[in-house]
Amino acid sequence: MPSPPRVRLLMCRPDFFEVRYVINPWMDGNVGRSAQDAARSQWQALHGRLGEVAQVELIEPRPGLPDMVFTANAGVTFGNRAILGRFLYRERQPEEAHFREWFTGLGFDVFEMPPDLPFEGAGDALLDREGGWMWIAYGLRTELDAHPLVARWLDVEVCSLRLIDPRFYHLDTCFCPLEGGWLMYHPPAFDAASNRLIEARVPSERRIPVSAADAAHFACNAINIGQRIFLNHASPELKAALAAAGHEVVETPLTEFMKAGGAAKCLALCVGEPRPSRASAACEVQSDSVHLEGHLLDSGLLDRALDVIVDGGGSFRVMEFRLGRQRQSTSRAEIHVSAPSSDALGKLMARLADLGATAVPREEADAQLETVTGTGVAPEDFYATTIYPTEVRVGGRWIPVQDQRMDGVVVIRGEGDSAEARCTIFRRLEPGDRVVIGGAGIRRVRRVETREDRPAIAADFAFMGERVSSERRVGLAVERVAWQMHQIRGQGGRIVAVAGPVVVHTGGADRLAWLVREGYVQALLAGNGLAVHDIEQAMFGTSLGVDARLGAGVRGGHRNHLRAINAIRRCGGIAQAVRQGVLESGIFYECIRRDVPFALAASIRDDGPLPDTLTDMIRAQDEYARHIKGADMILMLGSMLHSIGSGNMTPAGVKMVCVDINPAVVTKLADRGSVLSSGVVADVGSFLSLLVERLRHMESGPMLYRADEPMAV
Ligand SMILES: NC(=O)c1ccc[n+]([C@@H]2O[C@H](COP(=O)([O-])OP(=O)(O)OC[C@H]3O[C@@H](n4cnc5c(N)ncnc54)[C@H](O)[C@@H]3O)[C@@H](O)[C@H]2O)c1
Repeated sequence: MPSPPRVRLLMCRPDFFEVRYVINPWMDGNVGRSAQDAARSQWQALHGRLGEVAQVELIEPRPGLPDMVFTANAGVTFGNRAILGRFLYRERQPEEAHFREWFTGLGFDVFEMPPDLPFEGAGDALLDREGGWMWIAYGLRTELDAHPLVARWLDVEVCSLRLIDPRFYHLDTCFCPLEGGWLMYHPPAFDAASNRLIEARVPSERRIPVSAADAAHFACNAINIGQRIFLNHASPELKAALAAAGHEVVETPLTEFMKAGGAAKCLALCVGEPRPSRASAACEVQSDSVHLEGHLLDSGLLDRALDVIVDGGGSFRVMEFRLGRQRQSTSRAEIHVSAPSSDALGKLMARLADLGATAVPREEADAQLETVTGTGVAPEDFYATTIYPTEVRVGGRWIPVQDQRMDGVVVIRGEGDSAEARCTIFRRLEPGDRVVIGGAGIRRVRRVETREDRPAIAADFAFMGERVSSERRVGLAVERVAWQMHQIRGQGGRIVAVAGPVVVHTGGADRLAWLVREGYVQALLAGNGLAVHDIEQAMFGTSLGVDARLGAGVRGGHRNHLRAINAIRRCGGIAQAVRQGVLESGIFYECIRRDVPFALAASIRDDGPLPDTLTDMIRAQDEYARHIKGADMILMLGSMLHSIGSGNMTPAGVKMVCVDINPAVVTKLADRGSVLSSGVVADVGSFLSLLVERLRHMESGPMLYRADEPMAV
């Protein structure tokens, strides 16, 4: 029987090896600390052990290139094809020419990545001997965009894995496919999606998880030839697990090289690995490009966009950046976005659109439509709407989507020039409705973020900073809101207030009643609680049994809110109670007197409820939506439930102001809001008191808030 071809390895003597710079966390603190002699003897020992089982070739070391000893990054080879490594850090880039020469000299067909597309060879690309596919890393050194090229050039299936721990900066530092389909790896080095992919491809009985301690000894940085595994050091537990898998561990200390972040696997490149018979090109990586415009640097928008991409498991390249030179001029960037699957890319593109990014126009396609078959049920691949104005392409024409809101689908009615697109919620879908699916032929229009929008964002965490300036920032936020409300009222616009019972508990009921009375509120959306506590206060002077002025409980006060409910029930409703003279003040009294409509949506915790409270949730949602339509501003005051409910129905372009003591609630609303939304982390009673004070000021003349003016916060 012919013996199997001997494995060929490429190594490089450590003549010029030393730690001279810091390009990974292992090098940090080790510059100038590697011992030449020790490194030489450790390398010789490894070379000797490998020589027993493989044919070891050598490349001439070069002065000034201390990391050339780590030949695993020279490239990756498959049959007679080699893809040359393209180094991320300029410190290693001069190595490329020497490795190119070596591969060419041996007759390999050499492929090269485009300039600026890092691919760190077999450090990041490892063949699965059993499955025949190639695992390739991204996230730290190699770019995701290199993966499809590897698939094409080597005609191999690629599985993309994202590295997230800078200590394990190359795939071969934390991942080692073994003969027989076994896998030794350190799961925390990968993101959740990559771990899922590994688990889907390698059955659990073949996976050998490596502990943090073993991983820190570079146990995964191993060379597997036949049944032998050459590595720096492994714990008895890991050795036992590998022995149970039929592998024998050969330890050969490489501590000097670990100071530079490498061990056994980094020191040798397997060349001319035979192509598995099942190999054929496949790669799920997808990419697209977006434009981003605005005050990209000083508003932090570019940072946020890049964070969205990286946090979403994607990768980016800034293809073009035009910096606005004047204070008021905007910058523009074109960002190339890649993701490990089309699903992941779709999610990233949607989140980037939420930040105002627009897809770089490509060949335009019509939106794909699918017909509804069951009442109230959308097709599987429906496009979920956002709050941003959206257009869909139907019959070659872009048409605006009407009734824009979040969490709906787009239904197309009519044909040709009379086609109409409308945002529709599931429960209104009828069989025969044509719903937009997938992502083609859809574009969102978002106003660019400008410097002027910054105060709204700055106010978000108004109470988080140090005390004096935070009060000042709340004051500035109030000034801004007051000014906008004043404008809207002046122009006959609509302000919708959404409020929770905490408005009453914090002494804000009189202020909200004032806003209604003075024409600053055109509709009020709330729950049973606000009405009950407002009416309790109006009738008995208490809020949940506590005297609002004295701040102390009154005898029998705990019954007061029930007495209030009972009184309104006896009258038949709030309007009847006002007409009968039973209710003579408060927020709801003002609503009835001023003809300001309100909608009260029920909840599980409601007492009573009041006859006005809508216990049919669908009706309540419809009423909320009806009042929100055409609003210029939504003023959300201390109710998470009702604020989020209304936020979902509000299209972009409507000013949203969310006041809550809990930063998480404010952020949640601001996140889904347009750039026009602002959040104020503050006590709602104090906010309302300041707001009314500022509005009164404006009515009597001065329009500008002075930061040094004392305020009643
Ligand atoms: N007696 C009743 O019938 C009754 C009483 C209370 C609530 N409810 C109902 O329960 C539902 C949920 O009530 P909700 O909207 O009050 O609860 P919620 O939890 O949805 O919202 C309350 C919000 O108020 C914020 N908050 C607390 N103290 C604050 C302060 N001092 N300043 C600013 N913000 C502050 C909280 O952070 C929270 O986000 C509503 O439908 C309501 O009508 C009914």
